[in-house]
Amino acid sequence: MGTADGRVGTLLLDSPRTIAGVRAAEVVTELVAAAAGTAGPSSRALRPRVIMVVGNGFELRSWSEPLLAALGSFPLHVVRQPGLPTPESVARLAHEVRAHRADVVVAVGGGSVMDTGKAAAALSLRADPTPETVVRACEDEAETSAAPPIIALPTTPGTGAEATPFATIWHREHGRKLSLRGPGLRPVTAVLDPDLLIGLPEAHFVSCLLDTLAQGLEGAWSVRADERSEWLGATALAESAELLDRRQVGLGSAQRHAALLAGHLAGRAIAIAGTTVCHAMSYSLTLRHGLTHGHACGLTLASVLRYNAGVGDDCADARGAPRVRDAIARAVRAAGADSVEALAGRIEALARSPALPPIPDIRHDAPRIAAEALTYDRAGNNPRRMTVDILTRLLTGITERDYAR
Ligand SMILES: [Fe+2]
Repeated sequence: MGTADGRVGTLLLDSPRTIAGVRAAEVVTELVAAAAGTAGPSSRALRPRVIMVVGNGFELRSWSEPLLAALGSFPLHVVRQPGLPTPESVARLAHEVRAHRADVVVAVGGGSVMDTGKAAAALSLRADPTPETVVRACEDEAETSAAPPIIALPTTPGTGAEATPFATIWHREHGRKLSLRGPGLRPVTAVLDPDLLIGLPEAHFVSCLLDTLAQGLEGAWSVRADERSEWLGATALAESAELLDRRQVGLGSAQRHAALLAGHLAGRAIAIAGTTVCHAMSYSLTLRHGLTHGHACGLTLASVLRYNAGVGDDCADARGAPRVRDAIARAVRAAGADSVEALAGRIEALARSPALPPIPDIRHDAPRIAAEALTYDRAGNNPRRMTVDILTRLLTGITERDYAR
């Protein structure tokens, strides 16, 4: 059991229990039995009922058959979640979880699949989950606790959704990003199987790497950051360093492992510290300009990095500006860069990777993106004060050089 580079093991960290470097199909039955509190799949009287949530293209991936065969030893129902989580898709899946009387939810996919599975599991205890129930639960900030346990198997490296106690839900009609949060949303187990990244399109990988970099830096500089989140963020950046300088398309085994681990640790960092203004600005960029989540976060990251590194009297962190500047300096070093500018330049180049769609001209929409960003509570986690004017200037500057000529 394990990968070619021999990096196998259980990460000794808080919940979720994280198992890295294993083949998912070889461990998943044992993990389901453990999550359900039964004696294992051979115990016929106590066979847990399983819902597996998968994304588009699941059956085309080389690892899907062994995974299905392994989970087929349980009463299994497979549900597809295409696209971003919405109140409708979460309510629909919550109904399926109820109808199947699922004891365990296994989410196999990227951030959208995992977030839908987490939210649906948490809301499946409600008698009649509807899209309105989902929206209300997000708006009321209702804390969900008891729910069928979730086992998360990320197939993209970077969202960290397998580690966080929250789910992002997109309310397109209202043009808003909603959050459902609570201990019931945190998976009990995360399985980091590098083989699940085989066949990942380059655009997904680059987008995920940008999300990892954003979450690593935000987890380090947030006003809610502590020693643990800073360490997790810096370690995620250190694991990402080699990937940042990657010259070829495609990932070797060691790189797949590094990417998964980096994404996971960055996810753990934001589970502690919360995200900041890059994520706050990303939601409008996704909803109105169609950027993927990672691309949307990465687009503003270099500018926010430079801005936050210049923090002084306008510091929003009660611990003071030196703490923020030191945390940023440590994160920059961890990423293998010798200056803020060097790291910012690499991030800017990555956000303009030929693998990604061209960056849209956001200058005309900058004031609206800025105003909306400040309505998300995570904007308040930024360590340097932000205003609509400052954010507007920052956003306008980002695409100035792309569209000025
Ligand atoms: Fe993110």
